[in-house]
Amino acid sequence: MLIFKTINETREFLCSQKGKSLGFVPTMGALHQGHLDLVRKARQENELVAVSIFVNPIQFNNPEDLEKYPRMPELDANMLRSVGCDVLFMPDVSEMYPQPESTVYDFGPIEKVMEGAARPGHFNGVGIVVRKLFEIIEPQKAYFGEKDFQQLAVIRELVRKLSLPVQIVGCATVREPDGLAMSSRNMRLTDNERAVAPKIYQALQTYARHKETLTPSSMKNSIVKELHNEPLFRIDYIEIADDTYLQPVSRWADASGALVFAAVFLGNVRLIDNVRIF
Ligand code: PAJ
Repeated sequence: MLIFKTINETREFLCSQKGKSLGFVPTMGALHQGHLDLVRKARQENELVAVSIFVNPIQFNNPEDLEKYPRMPELDANMLRSVGCDVLFMPDVSEMYPQPESTVYDFGPIEKVMEGAARPGHFNGVGIVVRKLFEIIEPQKAYFGEKDFQQLAVIRELVRKLSLPVQIVGCATVREPDGLAMSSRNMRLTDNERAVAPKIYQALQTYARHKETLTPSSMKNSIVKELHNEPLFRIDYIEIADDTYLQPVSRWADASGALVFAAVFLGNVRLIDNVRIF
């Protein structure tokens, strides 16, 4: 696996490989099986696989979150080697942002709800870095996890809006054996918090099966009630939304697909998850 820190070296190498199909997985490192699943999928579908590790400062609205973001580049590189990654791009902040960024995207209604509402500027920062990475790597396919379903929807909108020549591939959420969605934030949970964290997925999954007997608002209320039983949880939001623009669904018949989304604090760690209803 080749490791590049500069845009020029990365471009030069990838230029020399022109003609090969290229799959790309952008990440912020602290890799786990969820990330590696995306890399494996890219490995199966492409002749070359590139991964980026860049903790993107402009998508963090909370400076403490940015500072505490786990960084373990050597371990990450070893994991990527083990799944057959060809190129690892690990730029510094000054390489990616030689000047302050002023681009403002309008992703429409998608960015006004849930993570967009809770984290002002977050999706704009994601949009800026992902577009920049696409321009550097020029992949034919890029892989994103459904764990961050709203981010995936924003990226699809970015690609559509700007007619970017890349195919976006969504990949199912990888979970721990007890159901907790894998996340680099899980390592910040205390033992007690870690023990109860799977209850988020359990509640979503249990009620998502009851579309026939529950309205969207009664499903949401049942999940809120269930999660309130756990004193370590502080609910940020539970939403039932359609699978394209992520707008609230008030009648099942109004949507062609819907998911239930959760954001829950355990101490100062904020976990998100989602489950498809139909
Ligand atoms: P990061 O949180 O490192 O995630 C990188 C990719 O891994 C994202 O597409 C995310 O959805 C996916 N992923 C994370 N946990 C997963 C899981 N349990 N199962 C499946 N996929 C999972 O998302 C980002 O970084 C950044 O916002 C980024 C897109 C790199 C832009 O900075």
